[in-house]
Amino acid sequence: MQKFNYLIAIVFMILVFLLGCQPVQKPEVKGKGPLAVVMERGAATPEYHAPMERWRAVHKKALANGDFSERECALCHNPKRSCNTCHGYIGAKEISIPEAALYWPAYEKEKR
Ligand code: HEC
Ligand code: HEC
Repeated sequence: MQKFNYLIAIVFMILVFLLGCQPVQKPEVKGKGPLAVVMERGAATPEYHAPMERWRAVHKKALANGDFSERECALCHNPKRSCNTCHGYIGAKEISIPEAALYWPAYEKEKR
């Protein structure tokens, strides 16, 4: 009986390890899982995104000082799938772009 309890404990620990500790990828365009930043197939990358590392860091400023408007972003980005997956992860403000509902047919029904 004692041995049996050990067995259960070990199986339990293995299960916790396998189920509880699955790595979740951080948000990125070619990522997988719930945090992936999803782009529609065929969306071209605009020149001002290059280099991407820089754009990722400065888009906040570019929007704040009016170089770009969020409406433009929504032409290629579905905010729910490709802004807020990342923003939710890092705790930045949730993006809501009214025009997105016009560009993305299933938008209202999508979660997040
Ligand atoms: C012409 C289409 C287009 C427009 C307009 C556009 N984007 Fe993008 N954006 C893309 C594509 C395509 C990618 C993915 C690029 C890649 O994987 O190389 C991307 C990637 C990004 C990323 C990086 C995501 C990651 O995984 O790191 C950010 C941040 C981003 N865009 C923000 C914006 C913002 C903010 C705007 C509006 C000012 C905007 N984009 C406008 C097409 C666009
Ligand atoms: C790969 C990650 C990532 C993606 C994708 C992304 N952002 Fe951001 N965003 C950030 C980071 C990091 C910040 C800076 C947060 C801070 O400094 O507080 C930020 C900040 C911002 C801010 C300023 C928020 C504030 O608190 O004032 C705006 C506006 C913004 N992003 C718009 C967008 C839009 C629109 C998209 C989609 C087109 C987008 N972002 C996609 C990472 C991302």
